Amino acid sequence: MREENLSLRAKYNITALFYDILDYPWERVYRKWRPEILGNLRGKVLEAGVGTGRNFQHYHESVELTGLDLSHVMLRKAGKKVKNAKCKIELLHDDASIMHLVDSNQYDWVISTFLCCVMPDEVQPHALEQFSRVLKPGGKFKLLEMIYSRDKKIRQRQDLFTGFVEKVYGARFDRHTLDFINASPDLEVTSTRFLKDDVYLLIEGQKN
Ligand SMILES: C[S@@+](CC[C@H](N)C(=O)[O-])C[C@H]1O[C@@H](n2cnc3c(N)ncnc32)[C@H](O)[C@@H]1O
Repeated sequence: MREENLSLRAKYNITALFYDILDYPWERVYRKWRPEILGNLRGKVLEAGVGTGRNFQHYHESVELTGLDLSHVMLRKAGKKVKNAKCKIELLHDDASIMHLVDSNQYDWVISTFLCCVMPDEVQPHALEQFSRVLKPGGKFKLLEMIYSRDKKIRQRQDLFTGFVEKVYGARFDRHTLDFINASPDLEVTSTRFLKDDVYLLIEGQKN
């Protein structure tokens, strides 16, 4: 476990207890996107930061999923959602920026939804290095993140929630995920698109 992640893990071990209730208003929007993002994946998939396992039910039955999370309490919640899934799932208690339990060059896909926006900027290059290490050559990734809007009104709304999302989720709108991917020697961004406003950004790419 990286020292920078200790406080995040402690936060999620508490937030886990009420995460699904607290996040429900946002999840009503996110749950429309999850099948579209995940439904067409095949092969071996690594999902980093699985949280309470909200993505599980959307994977195709042929997928072999490895899900990991920093927080053992979030993982315990995720474990209860395994029964909703059509695919085979293995859960690991591991730090996405270290992945000491995961072998190299074995995944067709690396997925994360709302992971990098909670991951401190100084940790992100290490996590991207791990994404690259565990992907097969030509393997692909999809990351869904939230960022600051350039629209003044939306930005004002985001500012209202900034303190809350950082305190409860460790999330920030000003992470530099796209810049870090672009600086990664082995990862290439193939497309970016917003799922809502200019806030919810889906980043897709591959390992060269
Ligand atoms: C905002 S939640 C998102 C959960 C889930 N992906 C979703 O879409 O609902 C972020 C999750 O990432 C996990 N996390 C944060 N940093 C991590 C790291 N370095 N390694 C693994 N998991 C991490 C947290 O414990 C938490 O469960």
